Amino acid sequence: MFQNKNIVLGICGSIAAYKSASFVRLLIKSGANVRVIMTPDATGFITPLTLSTLSKNPVLVDYFTSETGEWNNHVELGLWADFFVVAPATANTLAKMANGLCDNLLLAVYLSAKCPVYFAPAMDLDMWKHDATKKNVLKLQSFGNILIPPGNGELASGLYGEGRMAEPEEMIEFLSAELKKNLPLINQKILVTAGPTYEAIDPVRFIGNHSSGKMGFAIADELALLGAEVTLIAGPSAQVSKQKTIKRIDVTSAAEMLEACVFHFKNSKACIMSAAVADYTPVMVAQQKIKKQNNSFSIDVKKTTDILSELGTHKAAGQILVGFALETNDEEKNAIEKLRKKNLDFIVLNSLNDKGAGFKSDTNKVTIIDMSLKKTVYELKSKEEVARDICQKVIELIKR
Ligand code: CTP
Repeated sequence: MFQNKNIVLGICGSIAAYKSASFVRLLIKSGANVRVIMTPDATGFITPLTLSTLSKNPVLVDYFTSETGEWNNHVELGLWADFFVVAPATANTLAKMANGLCDNLLLAVYLSAKCPVYFAPAMDLDMWKHDATKKNVLKLQSFGNILIPPGNGELASGLYGEGRMAEPEEMIEFLSAELKKNLPLINQKILVTAGPTYEAIDPVRFIGNHSSGKMGFAIADELALLGAEVTLIAGPSAQVSKQKTIKRIDVTSAAEMLEACVFHFKNSKACIMSAAVADYTPVMVAQQKIKKQNNSFSIDVKKTTDILSELGTHKAAGQILVGFALETNDEEKNAIEKLRKKNLDFIVLNSLNDKGAGFKSDTNKVTIIDMSLKKTVYELKSKEEVARDICQKVIELIKR
């Protein structure tokens, strides 16, 4: 969830600071890069050593690191962060944040931060209920800072009530929901196809191709990471999706893929057709295994329906259709012809003349051509990176 997200955690002097250890552990486990800043008082509740070990980064308390005399750059930290989380946030630090005071490194980072700031209060119930605190919280929210609400329960004072800092698991859930809310493809249903199709000749043989499905699976993963609800229609492929939210539908033949695509495209915002669909299928499928007899042998084949053309014909206003073109000659001319004939929004061209492009490799070299014939030529990249480029183009079109 927090893969490659940079999170600065600010810890204040409260008994709830003991929960910071598991909070940092959960963030690291979910893929985040974490840097911890503590107020001087916080170091009395939990040691910087514990937090630097868990976060795998030095913990900062002062403007200067005393041993080296090095200046701890609050501006750099504020810019590095994707999220700044102050947890536990004491009544004292909340008041200082609300009023722009800056007498420690944590507050200097807060004032320099350009990213969303979250604060998880921890205090006794009467402090939490006090008008001064309420006013400070409202003031912080009016600046755009986001409250992670405290829970009810036993407090350090022995009293019961509201003021307990949210549990580390609850904070992770809260931040995940926030992260999802801001993803560019949130609530967008997107259809992706991947892999080859197999056209049965008899019970043991088929017409197929060398497509591995890697490109389509990488696109589906990337779309899911960007928040889309992805339906992946996959021909026979050994690939496995990394993102658990992807809904996978397995098909074998071009006819099955057509049926699934037509059904799911109706409710989709976009379709990215990266499958290598067979162009021909046997007219008859033998019920029994065909025995070897003569020296030569031929099979009658008929054209399959072009799935993209079919979707292109029924494409509604606002729907986005993306196709691939795998070419060996007259690459651009052929790709532009397909773009127009199939009513696509853009086409991803790969040429088998480019080393490292094509079916089985882990890399691809593509050119994207859109409706206005704008051409973007990309370097040879991993299929994951190519997927990122394709998804950025889809986002551009959706946001248009
Ligand atoms: N495609 C499809 N249905 C088919 C054949 C192809 O939807 N029956 C889609 C592919 O998924 C791809 C695009 O059409 O996105 C172009 O496929 P490609 O094989 O490059 O071209 P074809 O249109 O099949 O033409 P040709 O084989 O003559 O190059």
